[in-house]
Amino acid sequence: MTSQPEIDCQATCVSRRLFLNASGAATATMLLGELFPNRVHGQAQDTPVQVTKLPRQKIGQLSKLEADQPVSFNYPGEGELHNCMLIKTAELSGGGLGDAQDIVAFSGRCTHMGGSLEGEYNAEHKVAGPCRLHLTTFDLTRHGMVIAGHATEALPQIILELDGDDIYATGIAGLLYGYSVNG
Ligand code: FES
Repeated sequence: MTSQPEIDCQATCVSRRLFLNASGAATATMLLGELFPNRVHGQAQDTPVQVTKLPRQKIGQLSKLEADQPVSFNYPGEGELHNCMLIKTAELSGGGLGDAQDIVAFSGRCTHMGGSLEGEYNAEHKVAGPCRLHLTTFDLTRHGMVIAGHATEALPQIILELDGDDIYATGIAGLLYGYSVNG
């Protein structure tokens, strides 16, 4: 009897559900528990989220991150609506990378009307905001969920991958402000 090849379940399950959108990026609706196995914080396992698989881009290095010091980067393009932040929250965070699962990245644009969240990270509470326009605040330890203010959508979370010391962005969970599709 021949043995069955081992299947990378996570990769296979994701690729089966992904489909190409008009921009060529692969999108799918998944549950947070499927997207981040064993890395969902709080009660969010069954929360559906639009996932867009995008080109892999190096955005930082593990050894250079300091707790509560956000690092700006653009993803997946260069426009100002693609401004994002990479943060070591020093606290268990949903979808977090690293031994402490505390490294996360999010869009830097508020989902209400696109206000910039640059410089609005609150290290004491691990939140982005309040947004300067209408005061929405997002919890970065819980997948960017809205905890106050006008926005109704969570802050898009950048899907991260660790390769040695290098941190890569590989996609987005949620929809960037101002876009009908990511990418
Ligand atoms: S644009 Fe951020 S709360 Fe309105």
